[in-house]
Amino acid sequence: SYSIRRHATLSDTYSIQTDELADIDWDNLGFGFQPTDYMYIMKCTKGGNFSNGELQRFGKIELSPSAGILNYGQGLFEGLKAYRKEDGNILLFRPEENALRMRLGAERMCMPSPTVEQFVEAVKATVLANKRWVPPFGKGSLYIRPLLMGSGAVLGLAPAPEYTFLIYVSPVGNYFKEGLAPINLIVEHELHRATPGGTGGVKTIGNYAAVLKAQSAAKALGYSDVLYLDCVHKKYLEEVSSCNIFVVKDNIISTPAIKGTILPGITRKSIIDVARSQGFQVEERQVTVDELLEADEVFCTGTAVVLSPVGSITYRGKRVSYGNDGIGVVSQQLYSGLTRLQMGITEDTMNWTLEL
Ligand code: COI
Repeated sequence: SYSIRRHATLSDTYSIQTDELADIDWDNLGFGFQPTDYMYIMKCTKGGNFSNGELQRFGKIELSPSAGILNYGQGLFEGLKAYRKEDGNILLFRPEENALRMRLGAERMCMPSPTVEQFVEAVKATVLANKRWVPPFGKGSLYIRPLLMGSGAVLGLAPAPEYTFLIYVSPVGNYFKEGLAPINLIVEHELHRATPGGTGGVKTIGNYAAVLKAQSAAKALGYSDVLYLDCVHKKYLEEVSSCNIFVVKDNIISTPAIKGTILPGITRKSIIDVARSQGFQVEERQVTVDELLEADEVFCTGTAVVLSPVGSITYRGKRVSYGNDGIGVVSQQLYSGLTRLQMGITEDTMNWTLEL
């Protein structure tokens, strides 16, 4: 509780200093890294509890060359966003969901993790300290990137003796260069993202390095990103490199069920609830690659991508297009439903937002 009081004091001070917006081009935000003012750091020894977290000036961190994260990939990350409302106040979207997901991932990666309260308080303090970097209403969001890493030195393969929880933030606009225009995906049928019993279901850093090869090859061919199939049957949809996938057919919305190899997206879960609240039938099940070829609409969801319509899918040389290069009716309806909640335009009947 000492550390939380300390954050509140620190962030109060910073918020007084930082009411004026940062001087950047708010109309042309993409999804690139923009350094901001402060980062949050909290440490813990193996078998201990995180404590004494603090805001520090944003900058480089020092790590032993022998740190667990550098040598054996003992690390997790999270992603969430803060939006500025029309009245200037700031909204966080379901931060406790990220905290819980980090705790599950930490268990899988043999790491201690901050409590949900510590995580949420740290996110709040970091956002308030960097308030001048939260884009104006309607211009984007502040992407919040919590990291949890084995920062202690190891040589033999073992959990690190020390852990660091760190949060940095960066203002962002659209994730794909297409903006909100539909993206073109290629189905990868040789390389796989995850295996049963592996770590595909947690947000460990290695899952993302593992997709770079297929992603780079796809981009070189002009595709926006890659859609992965399950590695056992090679016919069920898994996810895209950085987001989950949904298929719409005759107004029924289907998405691959969570079964250990798919990242349990918070946007995925939120879209399912928004869709159901709008009267749609939503099915979480195995979805075959053949169903893609027959679909009326396809879209991706993720914190970074929000909801991104898919304009075409290419599978083994065959290309199928959707929606005449525009966003489909169902995708548009769900996109609006979700983002209006996140930006505080509609009343938050789901109780998902946290106003700072
Ligand atoms: C996010 O959507 O927040 C993610 O963590 C995906 C990342 C590859 C940008």
